[in-house]
Amino acid sequence: MHLIRRNRILRQTPAIRAMVAETILKPADFIAPLFIVEGTNVQEPISSMSGYYRRSIDLTIKEVKELWVLGVRSVLLFIKCDDNLKDNRGTEALNPNGLMQRAIKAIKDACPDIIVMTDVALDPFSVYGHDGIVEGTEIVNDPTVEVLAGMSLSHAQAGADFVAPSDMMDGRIIAIRDILESNGCTRTGIMAYSAKYASCFYGPFRDALDSAPGFGDKKTYQMDYANRIEAVKETLMDIEEGADIVMVKPAMAYLDIIREIKNEVTVPVSAYHVSGEYAMIKAAAQMGWLDENKAILESMTSIKRAGADLIATYFAKDAAILLNA
Ligand code: PBG
Repeated sequence: MHLIRRNRILRQTPAIRAMVAETILKPADFIAPLFIVEGTNVQEPISSMSGYYRRSIDLTIKEVKELWVLGVRSVLLFIKCDDNLKDNRGTEALNPNGLMQRAIKAIKDACPDIIVMTDVALDPFSVYGHDGIVEGTEIVNDPTVEVLAGMSLSHAQAGADFVAPSDMMDGRIIAIRDILESNGCTRTGIMAYSAKYASCFYGPFRDALDSAPGFGDKKTYQMDYANRIEAVKETLMDIEEGADIVMVKPAMAYLDIIREIKNEVTVPVSAYHVSGEYAMIKAAAQMGWLDENKAILESMTSIKRAGADLIATYFAKDAAILLNA
């Protein structure tokens, strides 16, 4: 044969492949979600998230310091609220001495440079496990947005660098920006879960926080997985309303959406590799059916290649260790 182009030339050796690789992961690409519980010296395994834990603030700080040394630069905080503090309006979410607010302060005191992002939604605080206030069988939008704005301000005042509303209510980004501006919080960013789908892949997370919806599902606020154009609409609106970073969630089953959005916007795009996506890899690896470390790096690279600038993932620490090796 006399070929003009031999594509295998660029795949011949590890050095050549590294030279022409289009997508390079780095530890700072990752956002590490952390589940926080009351107490001291507490580290509770989560049965559906093998190798992942709920930790008290003191052990969370230890974890944050380890992440920092590995090159991970941001954490996303979720708290597990005691049952007796739950109600319909998420009252505890606004408690200036609540677990979230104490966790933010403690982490920023111990590791001031790490970027602290906080989940903003009512589900961990809701007796109904819904992201908003329930009236009858409805999740009511506008009263919920008021609470989300108050919650965001409270996180900002505790020292959060970014608030991350994950609730999918209409108009919450502008409401959050407004309240931050009105209170002089001009350095607090908003990472909006803009295209968040109603997904079965959140199952293990709801075990972790005991936040499964008590009735119905989340389809009146989270997006229908049949839709692509709607994701662009949601995302562009969030940017107009003031979002600094937008997010697609889940990640692996939505790589097309990540790319679509990356092509449409000029703000950083994040993707959330969610609990069920983590659990699938863990389970298959435990069965000996795939190589966990290779699955982690291939999955993360695919998400970045699709267009994600940032990846929230329960594999943040593992991936950072692999990349530093
Ligand atoms: C709730 C929230 C969920 C996740 C992040 N924030 C679950 C849900 O919407 O029911 C899911 C994260 C995961 O599965 O890893 N506001």
